[in-house]
Amino acid sequence: MKNAAFLTVAGGLSAAAVAFAFLAAGPTRAQSADQAASSAAQDIPADSAKLFAYLQSGAYRSFTAQETKQHPSAGPHTKVGLDVQVFLNDALDRSLASGAEQHPKGSAVVKEMYSAKGDLRGWAVAVKTAADSADGQGWYWYEVKSTTDNRRPVAAANGVGLCAGCHAAGRDFVLSNYPLE
Ligand code: HEC
Repeated sequence: MKNAAFLTVAGGLSAAAVAFAFLAAGPTRAQSADQAASSAAQDIPADSAKLFAYLQSGAYRSFTAQETKQHPSAGPHTKVGLDVQVFLNDALDRSLASGAEQHPKGSAVVKEMYSAKGDLRGWAVAVKTAADSADGQGWYWYEVKSTTDNRRPVAAANGVGLCAGCHAAGRDFVLSNYPLE
């Protein structure tokens, strides 16, 4: 509709001027759509169904801070020794870089978990939902061992003892080496 109206208005202009207008407008629109998409990707939902859809979309793969390759997990994700790859959103990346004691609300990390054959088998996620970590209550913990079925996540709640217990040893519950390798 918009384009049709534009063409009618531009009807009196030369074809070259119209082509130029399109060329000039095109990249700007595409760029701002990209920016909107990447800032939406930074907000990781602390809700099982929404989070699963988010993970399936792969939006976190646009994060600046990510491990450059898969490496064997030092934790039980999904089994000690199977490959994982970690992605930090900008808020968590900045907070880890600054050496903050506690990460701000909205900090989030996604960990991809792979099978021995190298297939993506699920995700482990931590999202900070409050400024205070409160022994892990301020973090939403989520893990699922499937990429197609979210009916039985291993965890999907704030303060899950299994996750928070082991992660308490980290820097405000984050265990990965930083900077990421
Ligand atoms: C016995 C210890 C242990 C338990 C239990 C555990 N993890 Fe982890 N987790 C780790 C270790 C170690 C890492 C660091 C990266 C690696 O080696 O996999 C890690 C990494 C992560 C990461 C990437 C960010 C980070 O902290 O490095 C997320 C997200 C995560 N775990 C979520 C969870 C969730 C959700 C649970 C509960 C279902 C959980 N973890 C239970 C040991 C554990």
